[in-house]
Amino acid sequence: MRDVSLTVIFEHRITQKYLYRSGIAHALAVSYHAFNLAKEKGEDVDIAAKAGLLHDMGHFTWYRNGKWDYELYKQNDIHAIKGAERAHKLLIRLGENPIKAKTISLAILFHTDSFLPTNDIIRSPLQQIVKSADEKDEEKGGLHHYRKIKFERAKQSIIRLDQMIEKHELSYMNEEKVRPSS
Ligand SMILES: [Fe+2]
Repeated sequence: MRDVSLTVIFEHRITQKYLYRSGIAHALAVSYHAFNLAKEKGEDVDIAAKAGLLHDMGHFTWYRNGKWDYELYKQNDIHAIKGAERAHKLLIRLGENPIKAKTISLAILFHTDSFLPTNDIIRSPLQQIVKSADEKDEEKGGLHHYRKIKFERAKQSIIRLDQMIEKHELSYMNEEKVRPSS
């Protein structure tokens, strides 16, 4: 049973504020990719989808003379650290299970190598899923951050993903019940 749905997280004003900055369409796409990859690999689909949705919520807009400055961003970016912290705070506030909140937060922290001195970090399968899900939706020049989606459409798609997660978790629980104990 889930303590918090994706829809509740998605509708929160903090989520809306930060996802608006980094791209709601991208957040949704990564959430769906993460769900599908987790399903394929037998990982927790709820954790994967939540981390996918919130993975870029730590973005800050780096502007110079009124324009986005990629160099400035490269030099100063800590969006993975900031996102992990913001997501954790939000999830705890919404009543998320603390172990889940920590796992989601760590998957956000390690979804990119961009802030790390080396790129040799060893990720858990779930952390790798969120990183791969993000890469699946990446477009050249960071264009994936600028794709637009209307709020109502985005909300419908998050409600659908919630239903898919619940259906998956239910069938998983039923499988566990019929499996003979050894
Ligand atoms: Fe991303």
